[in-house]
Amino acid sequence: MSQSEFRSPKGTHDKLPQDHQYMTYIKKAVRHRARQAGFKRIDPPMFEERAVFERGIGNHTDIVEKELFSVGRKGTEEGSDAYALRPEFTAGICRAFIQHGMQELPQPVELYAIGSCFRYDRPQKGRYREFNQFDFEVIGLSDPSLDAQLINVTYQILKDLQIIDRLTLQINNIGTAENRKEYVQALKDYFIGKERNLPELDRARLQTNPLRLLDSKEEDTQILLKRAPTLDQFLSDESKKYHATLLEYLEALGIAYIENPLLVRGLDYYNQTVFEYWDQSTGAQNAVGGGGRYDSLIELLGGKPTPGVGFAGGIERIMWHMKEAGVAPPDKDQVDVFVAQLGPEAKKKCLVLVNELRNLGFHTVGALGEASLKSQMRLADRFQARYALLLGQMEVKEGTIILKDMAAGKQKSMKFEKALPELIKLIGEENLDTYAIRDHLGEFSDPGE
Ligand code: HAM
Repeated sequence: MSQSEFRSPKGTHDKLPQDHQYMTYIKKAVRHRARQAGFKRIDPPMFEERAVFERGIGNHTDIVEKELFSVGRKGTEEGSDAYALRPEFTAGICRAFIQHGMQELPQPVELYAIGSCFRYDRPQKGRYREFNQFDFEVIGLSDPSLDAQLINVTYQILKDLQIIDRLTLQINNIGTAENRKEYVQALKDYFIGKERNLPELDRARLQTNPLRLLDSKEEDTQILLKRAPTLDQFLSDESKKYHATLLEYLEALGIAYIENPLLVRGLDYYNQTVFEYWDQSTGAQNAVGGGGRYDSLIELLGGKPTPGVGFAGGIERIMWHMKEAGVAPPDKDQVDVFVAQLGPEAKKKCLVLVNELRNLGFHTVGALGEASLKSQMRLADRFQARYALLLGQMEVKEGTIILKDMAAGKQKSMKFEKALPELIKLIGEENLDTYAIRDHLGEFSDPGE
């Protein structure tokens, strides 16, 4: 433990090398499945005009009301809270869709993003102030088959990461904006005279965002809700048909789901389909991902009416599940060869040797300091190197080198030139970490032409 007074800020985490083995593995699965399904990568900025989130996600959601991180500069025209760090990707991606005229592209436009998001929440297990999401958006068409395809992509990723068995897919249809308006009115009517029995927070929500009562964690609210009208009573035939068709498609794809009439999600932009992946043991708390359809969002942000559907997964929560499930990503940081040397001539030869080894694809660490061979070998042990090459003054004179198998503790002397072919044989050519740009580079043409 360090003696410094400085620690990473509350609710943030250093992503250490051992964490990156998981991160890299998860990102690989995401990129792989995204490309298979025709998604293209987009990176909206880390911060946006505050209004993008306020209008997009909704002023009376927890995310906007309590959790936005302000960004700006005091004394400037824009002011100190003109911008906010992104709490999610969807609003920013939709803003970009409009700004770059993507409605002219063949529809639907399929985009994905990976990166950190920020929510000023009270830090607790699985709930951080900086966290990472991967996000998928399918924009331009509204059809249950698109919802089914999107769910399928997310399902495959969670399956690839070997955690799907720990999760349940919760799904609901929250109808059209019209359906919800009628329902919200009915809910308000139902609570007339009962407000006093509601906990304070939910009493406020009844005014600002009554649908949020449905997934309230308050016991008193849940008891009152038992006799309240339910959303499905207000769904139009069109919404019911949409939902039934989606469920049929999920069945055809072999995707298990649980219908959850209380699932509404914490962002305002949804209509029709909403879904979440829940931990089987803890339920609604710490969902590993969620999404749904948002057919009015683009219009709300100033674009032409354009429907969309999307999903975001929480990378930290997925990592936690992988660790719990004992899923270990392969260690790509192992050291294959440690090169030890003694004397100025040996040092020069080793410098070149290390370069050759690395170019051949061996993960190579060279001890190029002045320490004794013995202490260099201790270092080789600590690096958990598989093999060590030793070049002392005598070896330089004789044109030889010593190869040591670290685990077996055995070593042999050989002609200097023999060392590389021998190591290739030992490690196996197929295990070398070679890097080559295999794709052909296209001719660069000026897009302005
Ligand atoms: P969300 O449910 O707010 O949806 O977040 C998606 C996932 O991000 C959560 O299920 C969770 O795994 C992770 N997450 C959220 N907040 C935190 C936090 N404070 N700490 C750690 N992980 C967290 C959205 O963000 C929507 N934009 C999803 C979407 C995309 N809908 C349509 N398109």
